[in-house]
Amino acid sequence: MLGAAMLEQTVQIVANERDRNLYFRLVMRAPQIAPLVQPGQFAHLRIPPLKAALLRRPFSIFQVEDDTFSILYKTVGQGTEVLSRMRAGEELSAIGPLGHGFTTPRAGGETPLLVAGGYGMAAMFLLAQRSPQNGIVFVGGRRREDILCEDEFRALGWEVRATTEDGSYGEKGLVTQPLLAEIQNPKSKIRNYKLFACGPTPMLKAVGALAAEFDVPAELSMDEHMCCGVGVCLTCVIPVKSGDGWKYQRTCTEGPVFDARQIVWEGIR
Ligand SMILES: Cc1cc2nc3c(=O)[nH]c(=O)nc-3n(C[C@H](O)[C@H](O)[C@H](O)COP(=O)(O)OP(=O)(O)OC[C@H]3O[C@@H](n4cnc5c(N)ncnc54)[C@H](O)[C@@H]3O)c2cc1C
Ligand code: FES
Repeated sequence: MLGAAMLEQTVQIVANERDRNLYFRLVMRAPQIAPLVQPGQFAHLRIPPLKAALLRRPFSIFQVEDDTFSILYKTVGQGTEVLSRMRAGEELSAIGPLGHGFTTPRAGGETPLLVAGGYGMAAMFLLAQRSPQNGIVFVGGRRREDILCEDEFRALGWEVRATTEDGSYGEKGLVTQPLLAEIQNPKSKIRNYKLFACGPTPMLKAVGALAAEFDVPAELSMDEHMCCGVGVCLTCVIPVKSGDGWKYQRTCTEGPVFDARQIVWEGIR
């Protein structure tokens, strides 16, 4: 049984086009789901042509427009390969919007600094779009083709700082380098800020460490492997602080977004 604000709906593909290299953008008509989406939430998709179609795949909701929502996905395995071959007019089953997303920044509050690795950019767009104030997006990837949707963030009026590990685009190195430089920059105009991050676990851990070191608030999207996506199977749990100890919480329901101070990193692979 699904909660009040999550729905299972048959959605029709409006477009499914290659963004670049291994990345695709999939737009689905979903009049029931689209109006409910909050930044950082995800949809759980059943891909009918897959042999094991019962197993759904989770994807952050990238954009919402009228009665459609879209995802930005990377082909990494069987499910995403099959998905990339589906065409406009075909149907999928979607459960969404799922999970506890980011806190939308408030007018006059902290300046948002977004940190994204690869497809982590997908979880950030709605947050930037719905934020009453613009901030900076730090985006990192292994190489040039992993730097996604820069132009869309710039069109919203956000500053984008890109890093690639191989130096093929932007600054060479890890995405946390320019973030640290901004935090330590005595000439920065930003005095009061909050970090929001989505990407690989080592990147999230590094952002969490910076947040702790400089005592700044941070929300991290923990995209663990998921099975049911709705809180039943417990495959997605991570340890979080609780009183003097810790407890497991489900990233699909209590997350994927958590306050960085709550996460017990020693218990996460
Ligand atoms: C909350 C959440 C949001 C996500 N948002 C996006 C998104 O916006 N765009 C996107 O491209 N992907 C996203 N993912 C990851 C996506 O779900 C997986 O890439 C997808 O399920 C892989 O399916 P597959 O059948 O193609 O690959 P599989 O054959 O299942 O796996 C292929 C490879 O992908 C790896 N993989 C599978 N799941 C994950 C995961 N959760 N994180 C990292 N690696 C994984 C496997 O370890 C394996 O190496 C998200 C995952 C979660 C939990
Ligand atoms: S994926 Fe089943 S409980 Fe989270």
